[in-house]
Amino acid sequence: MTTLPPFYSTGNKKSFGFVTARSRWPNILNTAVEDIESFGASVQSDPKIIVESVKSLIKSLEDNEELVLFTEKEIEMIPSLKSYNDSFPYYQSLQSEPLTWHLSPWLFTECYIYRKLDLYIKSQGGEWANYDVFERLKRETFIGSVHGVLELAALYDNLEISNENLPLLFEELIEVSLWGNATDLSLLANATLEDIQSVQGKKARDASKAHVLANDLPAAWQQLLKSEQKPKRIDIVLDNAGFEFYCDLALTLFLLDTKLCDEVVFHCKSRPWMVSDTMVKDYALWVEDMKILIAESNNDKHLQNFLDKVEHYYANGQFKLVDNEFWTVDLEYSKIQKGGKYGGDELHQYFLNSTLVIIKGDLNYRKLTSDREWPKTTSFKESLGDLAHNGIHVLALRTCKADVCVGLKEGDEERVIKESGEEWCTLGKWAVISYSDGV
Ligand code: F6P
Ligand code: MG
Repeated sequence: MTTLPPFYSTGNKKSFGFVTARSRWPNILNTAVEDIESFGASVQSDPKIIVESVKSLIKSLEDNEELVLFTEKEIEMIPSLKSYNDSFPYYQSLQSEPLTWHLSPWLFTECYIYRKLDLYIKSQGGEWANYDVFERLKRETFIGSVHGVLELAALYDNLEISNENLPLLFEELIEVSLWGNATDLSLLANATLEDIQSVQGKKARDASKAHVLANDLPAAWQQLLKSEQKPKRIDIVLDNAGFEFYCDLALTLFLLDTKLCDEVVFHCKSRPWMVSDTMVKDYALWVEDMKILIAESNNDKHLQNFLDKVEHYYANGQFKLVDNEFWTVDLEYSKIQKGGKYGGDELHQYFLNSTLVIIKGDLNYRKLTSDREWPKTTSFKESLGDLAHNGIHVLALRTCKADVCVGLKEGDEERVIKESGEEWCTLGKWAVISYSDGV
């Protein structure tokens, strides 16, 4: 058996995990405290206990304390937390020092910290049970994306669709969905609205074309054409709410309007996650926010058409949103397999009947590739482990915001380092479109 490369670690000075653990996580948690306090002021139940717990979490991060197992009581309340406890001994066995915030596998610890935050909030029950600590940020950024939103609605409405240009338009809408991922609140925490707008829109996309380092789209297109599945379904494992979600909806409209498929299913997180990730309830909020933008833009007809079409497909069941606990446990996606725990088996069964499973964004990509230090020229299929051969057609659309990246050609990495520096892979400026046929 070949030895697998190590996981990226928060202790590795060259990894983005190093900075993330020491500065991004405390920043994200400090913003969460502000939001918890302001929500607490508007409801009956006092946020004091939650605020104290989150503050002590920040302190333990700063003091680089040891990670601790979830208690039985906590697992009784939220059973999927057990997944973290199950994995703990394995990760501990990989290093002689105890697992601490600043010295542990980055991906595992990042998932763990979001579950801690979620646990502290949910433990208070009542009004806190359905509270989304990141909702304000997600909605404000969507409203702030108005230029990109108007531009895309007009672009979509003016598409001239014919059989001849279908492959080209498919490529364009895939690019819309891909680069929609550049708007990520966990990275753009201190960005101005101008910064955010500069990564949205057709101009930004055109400029980014040469930044797609691996492109397996032709193989995914062939799979879409040859699939005889009835009804033909495309699944999209979502990443972020707001502008990215809107871009994913543009792709969805295209797929359904052109009858390239009969159904599109969005797979969402079942709890607030990595700041901007989409939950099922974010759909209704998106509809509300679209109505605000329509009113503010003097009833822009393209925006209204966009919303009407989405609502139509939602009402007739061709477009659905679902969620699964699996997406917020620590497990890598090779565990989407027969008998897989914490939802892995259910998803495997479901995806076997899918024409194409599009997996969006950076964190999902890290879970696909298990966030290991692969040489960048490793094939995408090799990095997927068992997922490469379990019958699922996977298409990853990922802008690079973390160290792991595979599928590059010889010489690509050196060229990109020259252009963007050693940290090229974490800037959100480069991307990969990678496909695996599941065979
Ligand atoms: O902390 C890094 C990270 O996990 C990266 O995966 C990325 O920077 C961000 O958080 C989430 O990005 P995305 O929304 O594209 O998954
Ligand atoms: Mg995300």
